[in-house]
Amino acid sequence: MSHDTIAINRRMDRFDRHDSVWLFGYGSLIFKADFPFIERRPASIGNWSRRFWQGSHDHRGTESAPGRVVTLVPELGATCHGMAYLVTPEEFAHLDHREKNGYLRLATDIGFEDGSAIEGIVYIATHENAAFLGAADERDIARQIAGARGPSGPNSDYLLALAQALRELDKPDAHVFAIERHLGELLAQQLT
Ligand code: SIN
Repeated sequence: MSHDTIAINRRMDRFDRHDSVWLFGYGSLIFKADFPFIERRPASIGNWSRRFWQGSHDHRGTESAPGRVVTLVPELGATCHGMAYLVTPEEFAHLDHREKNGYLRLATDIGFEDGSAIEGIVYIATHENAAFLGAADERDIARQIAGARGPSGPNSDYLLALAQALRELDKPDAHVFAIERHLGELLAQQLT
């Protein structure tokens, strides 16, 4: 699979005739909503875990020095917390462009805090995409993030904004917080 998923995602027409669709965000889509939405609500999806396993060549890194951003990996019984946005189907043209480096639209059940659930869309970069980097020691992930920067800014800003957004949602994520802690230690070492 090539890096660029725009053409594949355009063929995902399942919700095209709906007036609105729920989109579940678990990474930058939590803290950077650069698209119009009708409503937004804290939400979760089941059997997925958030991991900094996806390479970023277009936003938080470059072709020669990719950064790391989050994707979801299947994990039975896990719950991934994030933010859901009710959008019109036209917004997916912009979202497909934004998420083009390996992310595919997937239909999923999205659960809300009042116990209700609805089918919507999540962008997931699977291990089959060319930009996938996979598992690594969380300290090594922090080191890679500390050294990467791309057109959307330093990779560390992405990590710190995500950690902050999860704190604001009161949804701690051990993986994200561990990498944030390692980043803090690395930056402190650089100052001494
Ligand atoms: C998401 O936020 O839902 C997808 C990953 C990202 O854009 O950071």
